Amino acid sequence: MAEQARKDLAPAGQAAADPAPVGRIRFRVNGAEVEFGPESGLSPSTTLSYLLREKLGLTGLKVSCDEGACGACTVLRDGKAVLSCMSLAIEADGHDIQTIEGLAPDDPVVEAFAEQSEPGHGTALQCGFCTPGFVMTTKAFLDENPHPTLAEVKEALSGNICRCGSYQAIAQAVLHAAEKIERRRTSS
Ligand code: FES
Ligand code: FES
Repeated sequence: MAEQARKDLAPAGQAAADPAPVGRIRFRVNGAEVEFGPESGLSPSTTLSYLLREKLGLTGLKVSCDEGACGACTVLRDGKAVLSCMSLAIEADGHDIQTIEGLAPDDPVVEAFAEQSEPGHGTALQCGFCTPGFVMTTKAFLDENPHPTLAEVKEALSGNICRCGSYQAIAQAVLHAAEKIERRRTSS
């Protein structure tokens, strides 16, 4: 489950009434260094989701509930899943952020989600709105637990909501992703 962060953020991501601009923020996004100064218009309560989507154009992450309840905005910070709608932009300073755009097309988790279509389980992708969040949550989860049980997968994904109800297929995709990672590890 993604790390739960502070709850006192502005609902829309950007607190227009907050008069204090931030100082300088430097961090890496998908391997590239980025920097924002006081002129960038960020405030201390600007969320990481706002910064990534509106300032950097990384719209793969979705802001759905904007209150920490759905997992659609999940990204990785130093390899750990975080809810970017509940994380401050300034908390990214000095860290490595990875979004769905940073994953290779042949990433095993990406492949497993795209390929999932077994009879009896169905597709992991219906509208796809939840998918980036599930994929990033899965990346962090399989990094910590490369050989999970189905029950562990369900527990790990319990903070992510799929409004299309593809949970069974998504869980299968995670198990297949774990198999892919293991196959690649043993064949390399
Ligand atoms: S948009 Fe961040 S948890 Fe729902
Ligand atoms: S596939 Fe539509 S919300 Fe999950």
